[in-house]
Amino acid sequence: MRFQNRVAVVTGAASGLGRGTALALAREGAKVGCVDVNRSALVETVLEIERAGGVALAAPADVADSAQVRLAVAAIVAGLGAIDVLVNSAGGALVKAAHETTDEEWRHCLDRNLTGTFYFCREVLPSMTGRGGTIVNVASSLARIAAPDFAAYSAAKAGIVGLTRQLARDYGPKVRINSVSPGAIDTPSVRAAIDASPDPAATLSEIANGNTIARRLASTDEVVEVILFLASDSASFVMGHDLVACGGQSVVAY
Ligand SMILES: NC(=O)c1ccc[n+]([C@@H]2O[C@H](COP(=O)([O-])OP(=O)(O)OC[C@H]3O[C@@H](n4cnc5c(N)ncnc54)[C@H](O)[C@@H]3O)[C@@H](O)[C@H]2O)c1
Repeated sequence: MRFQNRVAVVTGAASGLGRGTALALAREGAKVGCVDVNRSALVETVLEIERAGGVALAAPADVADSAQVRLAVAAIVAGLGAIDVLVNSAGGALVKAAHETTDEEWRHCLDRNLTGTFYFCREVLPSMTGRGGTIVNVASSLARIAAPDFAAYSAAKAGIVGLTRQLARDYGPKVRINSVSPGAIDTPSVRAAIDASPDPAATLSEIANGNTIARRLASTDEVVEVILFLASDSASFVMGHDLVACGGQSVVAY
């Protein structure tokens, strides 16, 4: 029960890594404000937490809209209390060659990954600076290494790593801020991308057996555990760090 009596906010809580993080924080005692643009799936996460005896609140919002972010944070503070933990997991990839990426696609990718992370941090920092708190931002192994056609996504995720380092310096030690950079995780978005590819079996094999040491996808729970570690008091001396959890993808050349 590492998060007993704490209030946590998780963005992207309707699916995948954000959903897993919200459920795990609730299991460990946190009251969880769940944020996502997908209202119906968000309600499912909240109901699952409540069925297990936990406390959660749905705060639907587009993280890329600062007015919606302000309202969501206000609703969570009113419903659950002051925020101790923020996990920014909302986001998603764009797989497209840079020269074919439209203005709109570029902005959308930057907005939902980087700008949304900034808006949520900006909204909770004044209160956290007074009473203390911790933030974990979800970046990606692609912030550090290059896979084909991830220009906008890798730029957004590298931006998250830089933003995290800067905010950690400016708002620490009262607010402890870190990021996690996962490799490929077995989440609905990755499964959907694999299934939509011309040869799903070959794509899965390429992602899972590609240049990693693990030679498999991460389970959602493996990455959730890294996020919970960074958010917990066990990581009390970890500040401004990007914890790479990529099954060795970032160290293997071939
Ligand atoms: N799955 C992977 O392999 C992987 C690897 C590295 C990093 N990541 C990152 O982890 C995070 C979670 O990914 P996932 O695989 O769980 O994806 P997912 O698609 O299962 O979940 C992402 C959630 O974010 C929400 N979201 C997207 N844009 C939003 C917006 N503008 N406002 C509010 N909510 C929004 C979606 O509705 C969805 O519920 C993302 O930031 C992703 O970039 C994923």
